[in-house]
Amino acid sequence: MEAGSEPKNLVSEEGTAPDNAESKESEKSASKSGSEDGCDDEAGSSHKNLVDSLGHFLKDKLHIGGDKAEKKKKVLPEKSLEAVVKYIEEKKVTKIITMAGAGISTSAGIPDFRSPKTGLYNNLAKYDLPHPHAIFELDFFHKNPKPFFVLAKELFPGSFKPTVSHYFIRMLYDKGILLRHYTQNIDTLERVSGVPGEKIVEAHGTFFTSHCLECELGYDLDWMKEKIFADEIPKCISCGGVVKPDIVFFGENLPSRFFRCVEKDFDECELLIIMGTSLVVQPFASLVDRVGSKIPRLLLNREKAGTANPVMRALGLSGGMDFSSDSNRDVAWLGDCDDGCEALASAFGWADELKGLVAKEHELIEKEESKKGAVKGKI
Ligand code: OAD
Repeated sequence: MEAGSEPKNLVSEEGTAPDNAESKESEKSASKSGSEDGCDDEAGSSHKNLVDSLGHFLKDKLHIGGDKAEKKKKVLPEKSLEAVVKYIEEKKVTKIITMAGAGISTSAGIPDFRSPKTGLYNNLAKYDLPHPHAIFELDFFHKNPKPFFVLAKELFPGSFKPTVSHYFIRMLYDKGILLRHYTQNIDTLERVSGVPGEKIVEAHGTFFTSHCLECELGYDLDWMKEKIFADEIPKCISCGGVVKPDIVFFGENLPSRFFRCVEKDFDECELLIIMGTSLVVQPFASLVDRVGSKIPRLLLNREKAGTANPVMRALGLSGGMDFSSDSNRDVAWLGDCDDGCEALASAFGWADELKGLVAKEHELIEKEESKKGAVKGKI
C-alpha cells in the first residue's frame, strides 16, 4: 500500500489478510468524547480526512497555488539536526508533532517487529503460527488466542523503563512545544515517562483497558495482568467470552480519537519528528503526508524509512519522505534514536536537563518497584 492512500483499518505493507470488519473496539472508542484534548468529535470526520488529504496531495503534486520561486525555496538551508534546531528557534516553533514506533523502546529491552535478527516477527517460531502477523490478527485470535497471551506476558507493560527518547518527548511537552505525540506502541512507556494522556494518541490502541469480544464488558489492566501472569486465557466473568486487550489487531479500525486528532493537529503542525519506525503500517505511515508541504520532517532512525517508490514519485503519484530533495525538507539522522534525541537536546542546550530527568525518573521507578517488591515479600 502506498503512503497517502489512508485506509481506516490497520494494514501492513508486507501484506496480511485484514478482514475489513468494523471492530467492536473502535465502536466502543467512538463513543468516547474527544473534547478535553481539543480533538473534536465531528460526524463524518474520516470522509473529510480523505477529501482534505486528497486536496493536500493534488495541491502539492500539481503545484497548485504559490509561484515557482516559492516552490524552489529551500525549507531548510541544509539537511542536519542543527538546521532543524535553528528552524525551531528562528520560527519560534511551538507545535511539534512526534510520531513513534517500536524503535524508541528497544533500548528499554522491548524488541521491535521487523529488525532482521532481533525483531519480534523473526522470533515467533515457538508459537507455530501460519505467518508472523497472525499473532496480531483477529481471525487467528478467535481461533487460537493462546500465542498472543503468551507473548503478552513477555511484553507486558509495567516491566520496562522509558528510554531517553521517551523523556525527550516529555521534555518537548515540558517546554510547551509538543502539539501531540502519535505512537504505534502499546507499551505505554510514553505515559510512564510523564507525557499526559491528552497529548498522546495511541494509534494502535492500548493495554490499559480490555473488553470481552462477545458481550463487550470492560476490564482494567490489573485484571488482565493477573490472568496473563497466571497463564490463563482471560475469560469474561459475565458471558465466558475471551477478553482481549484494546490493542488494534490487523483488520481492525484504529481508535476514532486517532482520526479526530489527525484532522485537528496536522494542519497546525510546524515540525514533524519521526522516531524508531519502519513506516510500513497504514494508516499511520501516511501521516507524514498530512503536514504542510513546507513543514520540515526529521527522521531519527537506524535506517531511512517512509520513502516513496521512485517510479511512483517520478509520476507524481506518491507521497512519503524524500531525503534526496534539494528543498532539504526531509532530514534523516541515522543511528539510535536515544543518541539522536541526546544530540537534539545538546543542540538546544538541554543536554544536562535531559540527563537529569532520565536519572530522576528512573530512580523514582526503581524506588516504586522495590516498594512493591517489599510489599509482595510481606505477603
Ligand atoms: P518496526 O519493527 O517495523 O520498525 C522499527 C524501526 O525502528 C526499524 O526501522 C528499526 O531499524 C528502527 N530501530 C530499532 N531500534 C532502534 C533504535 N534504538 N533507534 C533507532 N531506530 C531503531 O516497528 P514499527 O514501525 O513500530 O502493529 O511497526 C509498526 C507496527 O507494525 C507496530 O505497531 C505493530 C507491527 O505490526 C501491531 O502490532 C498492531
